[in-house]
Amino acid sequence: MLILLLLLQLIIPNDASLCIFTRNIHLNGVKQQLQVESWGADSIRIRLSPDVVLQTPDYQALLPEKPHLGSDDCRQLNGETFSNGNLQFTINDDNQTWSIQRLSDGLTLFQVQSTQFMPYIYPPSVYSPIYSLYNLSLSYIHSQNGYLYGLGEHHYDQNVTLPYHNFYLPFQFSSTAPTNGDITIPWYVHSSGFGVLWNLPGYGSFNVQNDTRITWTADATHQLDLWITTIPKEASIASPFYALLMKNFVDVVGRPNPLPQFASGFWQSKNRYRSQDELLEVAKGYYDRQIPVSIIVIDWFHWITVGDWSFNPKCWPNVSQMMDQLNSYGMKVMVSVWPNVADNSENFLPMKTAGLLTHDANGSDITRGGNAYIVDEFNPATRRYIWQKIKTNYFNYGIKIYWLDADEPEGSRPGLQWWYDRHDAEIAMVWVREHHRTFYDGLKEQGEEDIIMLSRSAWIGSHRMGVAVWSGDIDSTFVELLKQIKVAQNVALSGIYWWTTDIGGYRGGVLGDDQFEELLVRWFQFGAFCPIFRLHGERHPSVPDNECGFGNGHNEVWLFKYSSQIIDVIKLRESLRDYVEYHLNISHQNGSPILRPMFYDFADTECYTAEDQYMFGTDYLVAPVYIYQATSRSVYLPKLSQQNAGWQHYYTKQNYEGGRRYSINVTLNDFPLFVKTMTN
Ligand SMILES: *[C@@H]1O[C@H](CO)[C@@H](O)[C@H](O)[C@H]1NC(C)=O
Ligand SMILES: *[C@@H]1O[C@H](CO)[C@@H](O)[C@H](O)[C@H]1NC(C)=O
Ligand SMILES: *[C@@H]1O[C@H](CO)[C@@H](O)[C@H](O)[C@H]1NC(C)=O
Ligand SMILES: *[C@@H]1O[C@H](CO)[C@@H](O)[C@H](O)[C@H]1NC(C)=O
Ligand SMILES: *[C@@H]1O[C@H](CO)[C@@H](O)[C@H](O)[C@H]1NC(C)=O
Ligand SMILES: *[C@@H]1O[C@H](CO)[C@@H](O)[C@H](O)[C@H]1NC(C)=O
Ligand SMILES: *[C@@H]1O[C@H](CO)[C@@H](O)[C@H](O)[C@H]1NC(C)=O
Ligand SMILES: *[C@@H]1O[C@H](CO)[C@@H](O)[C@H](O)[C@H]1NC(C)=O
Repeated sequence: MLILLLLLQLIIPNDASLCIFTRNIHLNGVKQQLQVESWGADSIRIRLSPDVVLQTPDYQALLPEKPHLGSDDCRQLNGETFSNGNLQFTINDDNQTWSIQRLSDGLTLFQVQSTQFMPYIYPPSVYSPIYSLYNLSLSYIHSQNGYLYGLGEHHYDQNVTLPYHNFYLPFQFSSTAPTNGDITIPWYVHSSGFGVLWNLPGYGSFNVQNDTRITWTADATHQLDLWITTIPKEASIASPFYALLMKNFVDVVGRPNPLPQFASGFWQSKNRYRSQDELLEVAKGYYDRQIPVSIIVIDWFHWITVGDWSFNPKCWPNVSQMMDQLNSYGMKVMVSVWPNVADNSENFLPMKTAGLLTHDANGSDITRGGNAYIVDEFNPATRRYIWQKIKTNYFNYGIKIYWLDADEPEGSRPGLQWWYDRHDAEIAMVWVREHHRTFYDGLKEQGEEDIIMLSRSAWIGSHRMGVAVWSGDIDSTFVELLKQIKVAQNVALSGIYWWTTDIGGYRGGVLGDDQFEELLVRWFQFGAFCPIFRLHGERHPSVPDNECGFGNGHNEVWLFKYSSQIIDVIKLRESLRDYVEYHLNISHQNGSPILRPMFYDFADTECYTAEDQYMFGTDYLVAPVYIYQATSRSVYLPKLSQQNAGWQHYYTKQNYEGGRRYSINVTLNDFPLFVKTMTN
């Protein structure tokens, strides 16, 4: 039988054209082109446009090449039905809508309610669109109730729950606090075993009601472009399946890189070390105390004028010498880079003259507010210009890690910017990825392989350019800590693999205040079990200004009230670096995040409600403490399928059986951290 099948495959060559299904349909009396294609295993891509030509978009979430996975299993049954693997697309000729079923269980995953293309009125401007643009709205229902995860990093109200129930999500940048660190990724997974990617890079919105009725809109697009994936026929949603969806996802959007080894340790940062002397003193403080630091960070205003992309020599007089010293401590440096150029920077005139700045409708340069102008990262000449400056002023000294702060270019004025002759409405979400490309391509060109940069924003594809994300300027409170524990899990399922928060929170921490000092310990315990382990924040009270500007209170661990507990956590993370690298290598191979919700590994229904704990790789169950002066916390330990397998409390070494909830006592020296073990 097998031989027969093999023979049949030889006789009937896999005709790629069979995997493309095209039709005209009539919607609201208008003829539209429909194209449905197999696009990866158990996945299909759907494009629809009122225009006669469908586009292969120049900016998109999918990799430009259709994946060739050798597993195309596509069929066209008749003029109405197309299937690939476990997904079947059906168009209903009576009402010209379509739906998608999963073959293995017959479930309708996706039933279109309405699709509307309205002409997009291009704003009066000196630019014109390169193809017809429409204002698009698509509504559909998921027939199965369930939860949605992914969609990026969002700071909703204090009671944010992990699954997105009813909410409205506009796709827009904002640079105004406290919404910095809000990132929209147009991709979600559904708890009934499928995922949906909105492959459009412009402004729009996402709206979900009761987890079943979804509406997406795009302000300005040439076409509808969607990608849908599900689990293979032999899999079942009664077993953990999210890893299967994430694998399909990275097959079509690209895989994250393996984490550079130097990045898996502790990152020391604060707002802000004002000078070379200050930085070196802190570095020496860590070195002398044998507290391991991988990366130490130089924050903003190390420049004279924003957009210089260089050190102020008065405060940083001998960068080579500083680098020699830091190298001798085994520390690397990350330096803050902003995407703005002030009109008194030496780079302003050359960039303005060459047209490297963002334009308004009339072709004039626009500011971000004040005298700072926004660089046009869509323009390849801009990327080259900036990289040359970065190379000369940082890279050539051995500074190869860039902190891409404040990289939301629109401020509060979306809809007014033109980049490389294209309107933001159509492509705005990709600006940040082009920004990342400046540094990624530059480093690659220099032969660098171990690339990592830290960014406040991201889009699909940033993960294949060495981008780590942090969650912006968050509050130094226990409430915020709990939020971040939940945010982390949606972020992971959004395909943001390298992620971190400001340990201790960014805003409002008062040194010496017992609540804040305890928060630092608890946040360290969480931070050590994030993909990137990084301390940052502004601390109060501030120190007086000096000739190198303002400074805030100390943020060095030996100066905190509970320093010995914190140093223990740093040593714990140090002992886990191989483990972290190993699991981030797995992300590189198959798209599984290291930090993930409980239900990623366990199909147990209780795992869907245990939102305040998570898995870190396959072996560690992490239940951070987020209540001031807590003496215990509740933890759910899932049942393990292997015989003799159990959970061991990392600190007390006590063994626990899975399949129930426990109240676990805590002190400041520990927290509920469990290791999967084999017992006898
Ligand atoms: C279109 O027809 C199908 C099959 O009869 C039905 O399930 C679906 O609800 C209809 N859609 C709309 C929008 O009427
Ligand atoms: C969040 O929940 C707490 C406790 O249930 C409640 O006291 C608080 O008002 C809620 N906050 C918001 C913003 O809904
Ligand atoms: C859907 O959401 C609305 C508004 O929150 C609510 O009134 C309604 O009961 C929900 N329906 C279901 C079936 O959950
Ligand atoms: C798109 O259409 C919707 C609904 O008709 C409208 O509310 C919205 O303002 C339009 N957006 C743009 C950018 O034209
Ligand atoms: C910078 O420091 C190095 C030693 O690392 C020294 O050789 C050099 O002369 C110094 N440069 C200046 C301008 O002080
Ligand atoms: C463009 O120029 C016109 C005519 O001078 C003016 O009315 C309009 O406000 C300008 N638009 C912008 C965005 O500056
Ligand atoms: C991760 O992969 C890299 C190569 O991609 C390899 O050098 C490294 O040893 C791996 N690390 C672990 C811990 O497996
Ligand atoms: C937890 O703490 C309570 C109160 O101090 C104590 O009675 C109990 O024995 C402790 N449980 C364990 C397992 O240590």
